[in-house]
Amino acid sequence: MKIRKAIVMAGGSGTRLRPLTQIVCKQLLPVYDKPMIFYPIATLMLGGIRDLLLISTPNDLPRFQQILGDGSCYGINIQYAIQERPSGIAEAFLIGEKFIGNDGVCLILGDNIFYGPLDFFRAALHHAFGACIFSYPVRNPEQYGVVEVNAQGKAVSLEEKPAHPKSNLAVPGLYIYDNQVVEICRSLHPSARGELEITSVNKVYLERGQLKVIPFSRGMAWFDTGTFDGLLDAANYVATIQHRQGLRIADLNEIARHMGYI
Ligand code: DAU
Repeated sequence: MKIRKAIVMAGGSGTRLRPLTQIVCKQLLPVYDKPMIFYPIATLMLGGIRDLLLISTPNDLPRFQQILGDGSCYGINIQYAIQERPSGIAEAFLIGEKFIGNDGVCLILGDNIFYGPLDFFRAALHHAFGACIFSYPVRNPEQYGVVEVNAQGKAVSLEEKPAHPKSNLAVPGLYIYDNQVVEICRSLHPSARGELEITSVNKVYLERGQLKVIPFSRGMAWFDTGTFDGLLDAANYVATIQHRQGLRIADLNEIARHMGYI
């Protein structure tokens, strides 16, 4: 079964980027020469996904609609839904239940930027049984979801922002789930910080023996732009590549043409 739908989570409160996020929400802040949200949408489009549900706050949703519309100018279909409060990333699957229907779904976080060969992503979208997450070595794993794997590369444990991480492997904000995800989210309880955690969803798949972890290749760039340093690193990276190559990253018009969507 190929996954053809994706949810883009673009709400939250952006507390780590205040005062910037008191004026405009995080995912509409510029990353060099375009709004942050263009990058995750570009990743999905390059993965072959054309049916999107974008979730944001009641306040910010109209601005996404203003800039992206219904997606038809990029040959994709974007629907919108509101998350009333930042009650956690995993709430995406409850809000998006109708959109998901009987299908599997991909989830991407609106503040995550991926750049590099996406073959691994396209392949993962084709083998969609259970859940598939990715891993990426970082120097500061305590700031992310962390996965520990055994010698065979199988997940052994998962923790959300652990004080003492069991590995240096962060879990990026790109996830692929089969239809069980909706039922799993219905049975979740909020964590100590009051959120439905995406890591709790992944733990259920791990317990069921249905969690696959695919390591990103070293050639992949991944940025979580939820902090000032992350935002600056991503902007500098995009500027460097664009200046060097004379090509634009996450140019949605260009991608739509390249993929034959328009
Ligand atoms: O970037 C990858 C990390 O993203 C993962 O390694 C973590 O496991 C995962 O929990 C998440 O951690 P963050 O602390 O970076 O999550 P943040 O609160 O920044 O939210 C990520 C995105 O999801 C961001 O675009 C805002 C959106 N969001 C978040 C929450 C909590 C929502 O739309 N609604 C929410 O309720």
